[in-house]
Amino acid sequence: MAAKKKTDDPSSIPVGKLTAEMAQAELARLAKTIASADEAYYEHDKPKISDAEYDALRRRNLLIEKRFPKLKREDSPSDKVGAPPSAKFEKSKHAVAMLSLDNAFSDEDVFDFEKRIRRFLGLGEDAALAFTAEPKIDGLSLNLRYEAGALKVAATRGDGETGENVTGNVLTIGDIPTTLKAAPDVLEVRGEVYMNLEEFEALNKRLEKEAEEDGKAHEPFANPRNAAAGSLRQLDAAITAARPLHFFAYSWGEVSEPLAQTQWDVLQRFEKLGFRINPLAKRCESVEELLTHYRKIEAERASLGYDIDGVVYKVDRLDYQERLGYVSRAPRWAIAHKFPAEKATTVLEKIDIQVGRTGKLTPVARLKPVTVGGVVVSNATLHNADYIEEKDIREGDTVTIQRAGDVIPQVLEVDEKKRPKASKPYKFPARCPVCGSHAVNEENPTTGKADVDRRCTGGLICAAQVEARLKHFVSRQAFDIEGLGEKQIAAFHEEGIVKEPADIFTLRARQEAGEIDLYRYDLDEKGERKKSKNGKEKPPTNLKSVQNLFDAIDERRSISLTRFINALGVRHVGETNARLFASHYGDFKSFYDAAKEARAPESGAYQDMLTIDGVGALVARGVIDFFDEARNRDAVDRLLKEVTPEKAAAVKTSSAVAGKTVVFTGTLETMTREEAKAQAQGLGAKVSGSVSGKTDYLVAGPGAGSKLKKAEELGVKVITEAEWATLAKG
Ligand code: IVH
Repeated sequence: MAAKKKTDDPSSIPVGKLTAEMAQAELARLAKTIASADEAYYEHDKPKISDAEYDALRRRNLLIEKRFPKLKREDSPSDKVGAPPSAKFEKSKHAVAMLSLDNAFSDEDVFDFEKRIRRFLGLGEDAALAFTAEPKIDGLSLNLRYEAGALKVAATRGDGETGENVTGNVLTIGDIPTTLKAAPDVLEVRGEVYMNLEEFEALNKRLEKEAEEDGKAHEPFANPRNAAAGSLRQLDAAITAARPLHFFAYSWGEVSEPLAQTQWDVLQRFEKLGFRINPLAKRCESVEELLTHYRKIEAERASLGYDIDGVVYKVDRLDYQERLGYVSRAPRWAIAHKFPAEKATTVLEKIDIQVGRTGKLTPVARLKPVTVGGVVVSNATLHNADYIEEKDIREGDTVTIQRAGDVIPQVLEVDEKKRPKASKPYKFPARCPVCGSHAVNEENPTTGKADVDRRCTGGLICAAQVEARLKHFVSRQAFDIEGLGEKQIAAFHEEGIVKEPADIFTLRARQEAGEIDLYRYDLDEKGERKKSKNGKEKPPTNLKSVQNLFDAIDERRSISLTRFINALGVRHVGETNARLFASHYGDFKSFYDAAKEARAPESGAYQDMLTIDGVGALVARGVIDFFDEARNRDAVDRLLKEVTPEKAAAVKTSSAVAGKTVVFTGTLETMTREEAKAQAQGLGAKVSGSVSGKTDYLVAGPGAGSKLKKAEELGVKVITEAEWATLAKG
């Protein structure tokens, strides 16, 4: 009779022992249970069962379907791939990119910042140059788009180009007006969402209490910033509404008419429109005044009631801001002066060597965990062999570490008095700890000196280099695939499922063909989280996220040329240089062909590559060496079968100089060389340092010499600064 009872409850029978009849009933039950769990999760944001239980259900469903393919239901949960959105929130592309800020860590850095600006604008030491100083709020930035005075879209920063549409939640934030009077037709207000310290503590207490009451694990938030971010990204706006969020306005995106003529007046305008601006913002006439205000804010920091991590300085005049423009991802006209790093003392337990994507061996200090400025730190960088030797840092030492904002903590000094007797100086390895290849300090082609960094010579035979390259491939400024982070890459690489970038794009097909099983990353037969060999839990890859992952991967089959080039991991080619190559070559094939051809130093392709402003021999060598390696070319070719790099974003075609190659020479009178160059690039022109047959214009000021001569010889069009200004306007 006992056996009979068991057959009544097929859910407890292993898949291998199910009869067809039981399997059918089981598939029906699973379809129903999973559908109701989906509804609870996606529509009400209130999961009824744990992720592990959910995964176990879906996995069981899949296994039964595999054993009894004919019994697969029409409403099978395994077919509901597209049902849940791959991301919780809709994406929202910013009309104007949201940038980041460069940092200053000392008074000297601030003086340098001012000097750079004066030089760029050609302002003498005595010319007036005012700034604003505002606290740097430690929250998350938000773009609020108003059209005809009504709040239309609120989006998070995201990667700076595209954020998440969180409009519904933002409507619940009291500081954010939903309608504006007397505002420009299109107005994007930017600022920081944050949570007060007191409210943060209270929220964590409340979550803890709720956890006790309903038995659900609400992890407390680590800090107010995470709490603010977590609250804003709630699917249920009612939850956001119940969380205390605030907003300070400090910047703007697209505007249909100018808001004012200075940063300071924009802030005043924001206030009139009904936004809160930070009361500690101040207009300052000199660097000395900025620094005095910095000290004042620093002194008040602890009593503000919310977290700030520095002071932001901005050039006050907006016409100057416009002329100064941007470098890469940060404006030339602003800087964040960070508060000093916080320090702590702890024991350095071990020195590990990490192998980077270009083979660089980086020593990392494994520390006895210690809290530094509210964050638990257990690793710190030791930079390179010289650094360790100079400071005589040894395993077992008591060390002072420092953490400045979001920068990797570093080991500052050793307390030799506390050094264990048996301690020995650290010996930097001469071989790669991962693949055993020789590690060398290469010679720098420009200086002729040995590099401070030691590198593994193993290249693609070194598993660590391959893995680091893959991690770089999926990183934020490269392919940025949602759900495919460093942990997943490490696991996929370790298992041999992903050996090179192209493999990422065949995961879905291989899963569907039954060649791989990504689900087993999570759960063993009992539905428990699988452990890897070292006893650590495998990264969480549950069924929902596997399907979402496939979708996220497919979304990246078309990708910007800059991201694509950056993703390849060519030595010396990061985001900035990738952008230079993308705009110079326009499409991947041209870049690829040029890179192969440039192998010959006398080739036109090589010379042409060097005309790109910002690309020198070292960068060119990185590119040439990369494409010289057959294995790299093959890997790129396989990747190109899966992914299409887009043509570089069309340059401002409205400009007469877009796409033209320009060389500046001689003295310019209305602007500095630096500004001229930046302006030309902003208009989509290519600026080159030398005249060649490809030069379209030589802008020659008084005192022009050899470049002018060469241009005349080659028949390149020579124009004056005034003629250039007319072209640039038109
Ligand atoms: S201005 C183009 N002002 O800092 C520069 N940013 O590191 C636009 N932040 O993403 C930013 N307080 O989230 C600016 N008073 C302030 C700020 C501030 C905090 C944050 C913001 C931005 C980040 C840049």
